[in-house]
Amino acid sequence: MLKLSKLATAVALVVAGAAVHAGEVEVLHYWTSGGEAKSVAELKKIMQAKGHTWKDFAVAGGGGDNAATVLKSRVVSGNPPAAAQIKGPAIQEWASEGVLANLDATAKAEKWDELLPTVVADVMKYKGSYVAAPVNVHRVNWMWANSAVLKKVGVTTTPKTWDEFFVAAEKVKKAGLIPVAHGGQNWQDFTTFESVVLGVGGAKFFTDALIKLDQKALTSATMKKSLETFRKVKGYTDAAAPGRDWNLATAMVIQEKAAFQFMGDWAKGEFSAAGKVPGKDYICAAAPGTANAYTFNVDSFAMFKLKDAGAQKAQADLAAAIMGTEFQEVFNLNKGSIPVRLKMSMDKFDDCAKLSSKDFVDTAKTGGLVPSVAHGMAIKPAAEGAIKDAVSQFWNDDKISVADGMKNIAKAAATK
Ligand code: BGC
Repeated sequence: MLKLSKLATAVALVVAGAAVHAGEVEVLHYWTSGGEAKSVAELKKIMQAKGHTWKDFAVAGGGGDNAATVLKSRVVSGNPPAAAQIKGPAIQEWASEGVLANLDATAKAEKWDELLPTVVADVMKYKGSYVAAPVNVHRVNWMWANSAVLKKVGVTTTPKTWDEFFVAAEKVKKAGLIPVAHGGQNWQDFTTFESVVLGVGGAKFFTDALIKLDQKALTSATMKKSLETFRKVKGYTDAAAPGRDWNLATAMVIQEKAAFQFMGDWAKGEFSAAGKVPGKDYICAAAPGTANAYTFNVDSFAMFKLKDAGAQKAQADLAAAIMGTEFQEVFNLNKGSIPVRLKMSMDKFDDCAKLSSKDFVDTAKTGGLVPSVAHGMAIKPAAEGAIKDAVSQFWNDDKISVADGMKNIAKAAATK
């Protein structure tokens, strides 16, 4: 009898404990392509193994613009998700509204300060406290190519300069294939644009023009050359590009319909999900002229202030899981990115990831490491939106001259 009552008490305690400790975690993200969905499923698994309930809040739309709009309306109506995929200066903007939870207890227990590059930790903090947990490091200035297509059209070496690239693109075009797979959102246009600017002008010019938004740089001869090169790339895309999702453009390269794509290494997640092998089926190379530079894009989750104790515990567990070695490895193997946590083994990663990891470290020393503007890492959302629109207008309307395009971009950059 005594034993039974003890057992009952123990069960009651466990149940009570579970009620306090397990919680629902609603996670807003925009990882909906094949490779992305596989990656986020790993986080869900880890959270479920900890006893939490994962409420998936996926908002389709590469680059996250749609997700950002949905998030705003949820927060404004007083019903924020537990966690949302937010990054770069937008983290600071949300934190300044007073709606983000403080993650310092988890960060301290898990030693985040020791495990993160300072350049990343700074972005995750607001007034010295962690308000977001970083997931990965994506490199944006990549060029992807289908090996069989290049072989078929007689391109024997991967183009390293824009001049070499246009020679190769011409060969692809003559063979009746699409040289550049491209889609139709402004962030996709800007992903290509920033690689062109980096390749034509180098990391210092990139910083002056696109991060410091220096008017002199934005109206310089180097910017003129960048826009001319950018327009030339456009000439090698197909007429059906407008409105196309980025992953469908990657699929064109995978399916040997197109030769190249300029896209961050989430594209590798699509190649991997399709069973393709780097170095054999496809090539990953720095975009022309950018081998010594690296545009970085760090995905992260910010947590919103919630009242429920179970939900708070779930948030803390989510933050800890995101920075844990298990998640950092399996997620990034699927996603195409590299772990953001320092001192992780790269043994299981492919050559593209190993190159990314090496270049991330090397470019940090040489000054070639720059935040991606296309992916919300560098400037305030208002100016970013305005220059993205100006760049897309130029890309989509051949009647806008280079001189006018340059003026429009410089004007947009002055948006406060
Ligand atoms: C995000 C990636 C995502 C890509 C396409 C980028 O801005 O950082 O995680 O895969 O957009 O949606």
